[in-house]
Amino acid sequence: MVEDVNKDLKDRYCKFVSKIPTFKDKQAKLGHWEDAIKSFNLYSVKNCSQKLDIIGKIVEGSEFGFRSFYKKYFTNFLFLKDFLLARIILIGEKISGTISNNRITKYEHARALEFIKKKGLLFEYLEFIKSFGIKSEMQTIRYFYYLKNLNDVLEKQQIKGKLNFLEIGAGAGGFSLFCFKKISVFRYVIVDLPEMLGYAAYQILKYRPDLSVVYPDEFNEGLFGKENKPTVYFLLPKQIEYLPENFFNVILNFTSFSEMAPEEIIRYFSYIYKIGKQGAIFYNVNRVKQLSKKEEDGVIINNPLLFPYGNNDEILSFGTDEFHYATRTGIGVIPTMTISRIARIKSNN
Ligand SMILES: C[S@@+](CC[C@H](N)C(=O)[O-])C[C@H]1O[C@@H](n2cnc3c(N)ncnc32)[C@H](O)[C@@H]1O
Repeated sequence: MVEDVNKDLKDRYCKFVSKIPTFKDKQAKLGHWEDAIKSFNLYSVKNCSQKLDIIGKIVEGSEFGFRSFYKKYFTNFLFLKDFLLARIILIGEKISGTISNNRITKYEHARALEFIKKKGLLFEYLEFIKSFGIKSEMQTIRYFYYLKNLNDVLEKQQIKGKLNFLEIGAGAGGFSLFCFKKISVFRYVIVDLPEMLGYAAYQILKYRPDLSVVYPDEFNEGLFGKENKPTVYFLLPKQIEYLPENFFNVILNFTSFSEMAPEEIIRYFSYIYKIGKQGAIFYNVNRVKQLSKKEEDGVIINNPLLFPYGNNDEILSFGTDEFHYATRTGIGVIPTMTISRIARIKSNN
């Protein structure tokens, strides 16, 4: 619970949150963080505990935040309800020879539970989320599935030791929390829009107050890489340019390039090949997305098959994302094409 967190840490977080408006890049398209804050009138709240209360509700109410389960360390049997729903739906589909196109949250969760069960990972997954004291939902299963894939690759490729991770567009930081639990991560750098960093930093404060954190205005190029304990960095999109070359072991992007303007994707790719170590793992899952643009500019479509990957990458897996198709398919619903790619990058291309 965030109430139990050390006061200095909470004060630092509150200071960071109050600076978010000053970090704003006027050009960037903003998420819903700012609106959510406005609707709770957060800027007029001076008291840090009150601020944290409000932010906690915003994060838990958002599509990316974890939802706490009040009995930490007990298996949350609430998952059974949706699991039974999945069985009923599947039996119904078998009998009728059709597929339901219900996209409500509960249904997506049910499908995801079925997916993870088929992978033989249901009980390992439930055990895993138990230690966080969170409810099972589609997003937590999705993160767990990505985590399994990543961990398998790291083991197979024998990438170990104190690892440096970079995640571009991390939502509320759920995947970073999962990685810290399973993998020996030492530095985890999150690069995101300022409003979204507020979400991620809140969840790190709540679930891993033992980790060191560095907020955007505390970032010091000279000190980076000299930390003596596991550290999470929260950096703004433009700060990626201050990260050292040939440094990161793992680079991640989940459904976040899809949302960016093509120039932004190209910019990130040029940095990835500079700051990623030779042979670093670059794992991304992204979908085809049409960006809304002014009519005179024509239509811009982000296509993950056409991202500017390096020619010398060693591709470990490249294809449609199994999880997406298992959870999003329905009658007359063709899921948006979503591509999962894991590669070892070679910088001299
Ligand atoms: C659909 S969410 C995905 C969040 C998370 N990766 C997940 O899979 O749940 C897209 C993320 O990309 C971030 N994003 C959008 N534009 C960005 C940019 N220019 N630079 C970095 N992150 C960006 C959003 O703020 C958000 O965190």
